[in-house]
Amino acid sequence: MDIETLRLGPDEAGILQAADLLSAGALVSFPTETVYGLGADARNGTAVAGVFAAKGRPSFNPLIVHLAQTTQAQVFVEWSDAAEILAAAFWPGPLTLVLPLKEGHGLSSLVTAGLDTVALRVPAHATARRLLAAFGGPVAAPSANPSGRISPTTAAHVLAGLSGKIAAVLDDGPCTVGLESTIVGLTGDTPMLLRAGGLPQEAIEAALGPPLAQNSGPDITAPGQLTSHYAPAGAVRLNATKPKGNELYLGFGNMPCDLNLSASGDLTEAAANLFDCLHQLDAKARPIAVAPIPEHGLGHAINDRLQRAAAPR
Ligand code: TXA
Ligand code: MG
Repeated sequence: MDIETLRLGPDEAGILQAADLLSAGALVSFPTETVYGLGADARNGTAVAGVFAAKGRPSFNPLIVHLAQTTQAQVFVEWSDAAEILAAAFWPGPLTLVLPLKEGHGLSSLVTAGLDTVALRVPAHATARRLLAAFGGPVAAPSANPSGRISPTTAAHVLAGLSGKIAAVLDDGPCTVGLESTIVGLTGDTPMLLRAGGLPQEAIEAALGPPLAQNSGPDITAPGQLTSHYAPAGAVRLNATKPKGNELYLGFGNMPCDLNLSASGDLTEAAANLFDCLHQLDAKARPIAVAPIPEHGLGHAINDRLQRAAAPR
């Protein structure tokens, strides 16, 4: 079911059209100084689910939220001295900061993959900033490549991988950095390098003073997938056709249940609801049984995340 992907220019008309598409919940690829991103309104769960569908991602990694200006960050996160120092030194630029979410942040839980932190970045690219300013809100964007493929640094790369799957690409030539942003975690006692990237570690340490802690996790390219990942406190049983004992039942499709991922059996809707549903059920401190989810399209990513939530720990 392919759609026509528009190639928009970086003039006023192109930027406004791209911003309108984002507001309507559509997916727009845009250039940043690092790589082209695949953008969606970060407050719209269905739009964000569409990002995972378009990329064919087999799992839900948390996404980076892009902002036009540093001052917008405090709407979403608990700001800190370290955040202020790094933002003042390197934003706009190829640096992403992971910070604790603030109450009432309004972001889709699919953006954060259910974590209580979020990755934020103010990109330096003039066209990215004009788009973000015209849109006015937070834009969730992973690199605009199909899952498992190389990150795109031109609009042609984006179209080669995602033509027919996204509404538009805003074409403003090649990216200058060509490497993804450096990610620094500011959620613990010491700022931590979560992913090496376009901003050298030495520059960050020169601004901060003390050296960065190093991520000791197994896979530095996917810090959001580490063991700290959200999992409910109670046991989670998958592929359950009905609940047992005092289990709460998380349904999919038209069936009796305590909470339904999608009563109509729509995988995009289910993806958008997944983390909110798990949080709601978790708050009741009872074991959770989950209905079978079909293994196609976004079903792969939903099942991957459910398997992590159900893994013994
Ligand atoms: O340069 C970039 O960073 C590009 C452009 C488009 O901004 N974006 C990009 O996004 O590389 P993506 O989705 O390919 O990589 C985002 C990384 C993932 O490794 C993810 O696990 C991590 O950011 N991440 C996002 N939120 C996180 C969080 N709350 N905690 C830890 N890691 C997080
Ligand atoms: Mg990527």
